[in-house]
Amino acid sequence: MKAVLLDGFGGLDVLKVGEVERPSPKENEVLVRVHATSINRPDLVQREGKYPPPPGDSEILGLEVAGVIEEVGSAVTGWQKGDRVMSLVGGGGYAEYAVAYANHLMKIPESMSFEEAACVCESYITAFLNVFMIGGLQDGQTAILHGGGGGVNTAAIQLCKALTPNTKLIVTASPEKMDRVKELGADLVINFKETPDFSEAVKEFTNKKGVDVILDHVGAKYLAPNMNSLGYKGRLVIIGVISGIKAELNLALMMVKRQQIIGSVLRSRPVSEKGEIVAEFTRRALPKFADRTIVPIIEKSFTLDQVVDAHGMMEADKHFGKIVMTM
Ligand SMILES: NC(=O)c1ccc[n+]([C@@H]2O[C@H](COP(=O)([O-])OP(=O)(O)OC[C@H]3O[C@@H](n4cnc5c(N)ncnc54)[C@H](OP(=O)(O)O)[C@@H]3O)[C@@H](O)[C@H]2O)c1
Repeated sequence: MKAVLLDGFGGLDVLKVGEVERPSPKENEVLVRVHATSINRPDLVQREGKYPPPPGDSEILGLEVAGVIEEVGSAVTGWQKGDRVMSLVGGGGYAEYAVAYANHLMKIPESMSFEEAACVCESYITAFLNVFMIGGLQDGQTAILHGGGGGVNTAAIQLCKALTPNTKLIVTASPEKMDRVKELGADLVINFKETPDFSEAVKEFTNKKGVDVILDHVGAKYLAPNMNSLGYKGRLVIIGVISGIKAELNLALMMVKRQQIIGSVLRSRPVSEKGEIVAEFTRRALPKFADRTIVPIIEKSFTLDQVVDAHGMMEADKHFGKIVMTM
């Protein structure tokens, strides 16, 4: 089968398209004929050699697939050849075929294309897990979502609007993406290039109350402004560390305000735990895709042969929402 291969680790030039053996599903897995996948920021980090796949998962890049079941493992029930499915995968999405655990599969609603479905699993499940299941955002509360133009964060805005329509959303974005973030539903948009310390703007917007939940992938540089923006019993959920991993924390303030800081990754969780997250997402969020309340935002769709352009677009931060790759 055709797949994207890595010729060492590094920049765009290590991405090559080549032939590899088709994988076979184990007893609890299915083989998916992949129609589309999408690019996620962690793929770029893996390409650079800084984010290896969990042991046992494919070394091929790609954290999600949308396609059709080609073969079903011997212990799998409830799924059959020909089903249109989307799934998280620990690796292997940038290929014509990929194996997926049966308990990570979701049926693609008839109203959705393969390209749209290819955007759902990594970005929307990451946003859902961290804002709702871990962050515990309730309707009527206030949240900060950082980097509103990216895949995870456009997903987070859309999920908040669909599932908790009375939440107030404060979103940081680069100046070029601020208008689109506002259109998508942000109540306050802060230009992160001009205002790296956003906490004063947050204080003013919340009448000094602070926010209930923060979804952060910036890390060290934002720890102080995040903590200064977090209200009583607020939850800061950290899913990335693009600005660094070490920062100072005022523990007394955190204690007195009974705040929580929670770190979270999706990819390396046990198979069963990811299955539970997928089940909750299927129950609560998937109907919003089926009825088109949520439609994934696709900046551009490339073919597998254009993988260098697809990675190049994300590397240059030229996208709003998701970048898709079809087989
Ligand atoms: N822990 C997990 O389970 C998990 C899972 C998936 C992803 N992630 C992490 O989540 C992050 C987003 O992933 P993605 O696939 O959505 O990537 P993406 O589409 O490239 O989005 C990244 C966003 O970060 C924004 N950004 C850059 N510097 C910023 C700053 N100083 N303040 C606020 N925003 C800033 C960018 O804004 P502009 O484009 O406007 O410049 C861009 O919109 C990555 O760090 C990724 O590693 C974590």
